[in-house]
Amino acid sequence: MQRRKETKVLSNNPIGIFDSGFGGLTVMSKINKLLPLESLIYFGDTAHIPYGSKSKNAVVRFSKEIASFLIKNHVKLIVIACNTASAFALSILKRTFDVPIVGVIESGAKASVLASKSKNIGVIGTEGTVNSESYINEINKISKSNVYQQSCPLFVPLVEEGWISGKIADAVVKKYMVPLLKKHIDTLVLGCTHYPLLKGILRKNINEKIVFIDSAETVAQEIVNVLKQKSLLATNDGNKFLKFYVSDNPKKFQTIGNKFFWKKIHNVKKIDMEQR
Ligand code: DGL
Repeated sequence: MQRRKETKVLSNNPIGIFDSGFGGLTVMSKINKLLPLESLIYFGDTAHIPYGSKSKNAVVRFSKEIASFLIKNHVKLIVIACNTASAFALSILKRTFDVPIVGVIESGAKASVLASKSKNIGVIGTEGTVNSESYINEINKISKSNVYQQSCPLFVPLVEEGWISGKIADAVVKKYMVPLLKKHIDTLVLGCTHYPLLKGILRKNINEKIVFIDSAETVAQEIVNVLKQKSLLATNDGNKFLKFYVSDNPKKFQTIGNKFFWKKIHNVKKIDMEQR
């Protein structure tokens, strides 16, 4: 078993956020909005994206390496912005590292239970997230519900290509949503980093009464709670920074990221496996 690392934390140390690629920028963006004083370090594992179709072993291995890298960079808390990595690696990372670690699934599950009156909840995610049944387990821990899942493997490439509206996106959304909508769900969990970017086209095809749960929003609130509880909220010392690291192709990350992030991304650094 890997030894737990002793980690000294200071409130003005950065928050580390990681994802398989640029999708977790949706989470980073919400954290920055809610916690503007916090310094943030983002790691996008662009050499290994997509995580959604990979095995648990592989995703756990990548997640451990990234968490070690973030800890070396003195983060005070780690956010697993990726749903697939949260599903596969959250409990293992919590056992391995001493800093608080927050995944996106627990808070999304909580929010869906609060929102659902009929207790018929839909969950969309990658193959990995759906097969892990993590959302089903988390939701049922809080309140017994009927959870209907649908994996949507074509959503990630659609978003990455920027095809978030138009005929092709419409057809794909219909194909995935029709079986789910037959279950009379009143709440839909957008269980993947990329799906908040499809809210427009999803809403076009889905009755207004169905509530969307955006894990990026719910996890940002959870982080505020954890930092408050541990007295780790940053103070205004004028040294706030945002840093971006990837495992491959920083240029592409910057170009795609700029489309979806709230501000221009600069200075994306590539980290080689050996350097981590
Ligand atoms: N970040 C992944 C997730 O939220 C989606 C992209 C991927 O498959 O790597 O599950």
